[in-house]
Amino acid sequence: MTGWAALAEEMVGCTACGLAATRTQVVPGVAAPEARIVLIGEAPGRAEDEGGLPFVGRSGRLLDELLDAAGLHRDQLAIVNTVKCRPPANRTPKRIEAATCRPWLDRQVRVIDPDVVVTLGGSALAWALGTGRRLRDARGQVHRLRLPGSEERSYQMVATYHPAAALRFGPAGEPRQALAADLQLAAGLVAR
Ligand code: URA
Repeated sequence: MTGWAALAEEMVGCTACGLAATRTQVVPGVAAPEARIVLIGEAPGRAEDEGGLPFVGRSGRLLDELLDAAGLHRDQLAIVNTVKCRPPANRTPKRIEAATCRPWLDRQVRVIDPDVVVTLGGSALAWALGTGRRLRDARGQVHRLRLPGSEERSYQMVATYHPAAALRFGPAGEPRQALAADLQLAAGLVAR
């Protein structure tokens, strides 16, 4: 079994936080065997909680469209979330939930060892760079991400908007334009 599969299997029984009581199932995420880019969303929504896969609802459909425009496809990527269980009514994960779930995400990134990490939205940005960073200021540039406990390895990191924000503000809105541009930026950072 690969490191990724073993990790996913380990997390399906997780009861470390209160989200375990209301979820249908843990959604570990997906990773192509040779994934060079990891996309990090916030949390599973209803469709993901029911289906067990990340980004399969409306946000996921827009994400696929923008990935396609950037020349990227799911079979080249890993797609995961900051928390692996759906928060009730899709509320933002609480800090304690994000902190409790954090070791899973850190381990996933280490196992995949990607060229580029892309954070989608505020929760993933907080995971990467801590709270108090504004997405508008952080996006559109390449950061160096170091994970706790393995500071010797750093990852190129691009922060961008969550597809749900792109849907909310429409096709001409700043989040959608920025998300499209930032996915292009990330695609260009993959080692060739
Ligand atoms: N939104 C997310 O942040 N993640 C998903 O998997 C689906 C919607």
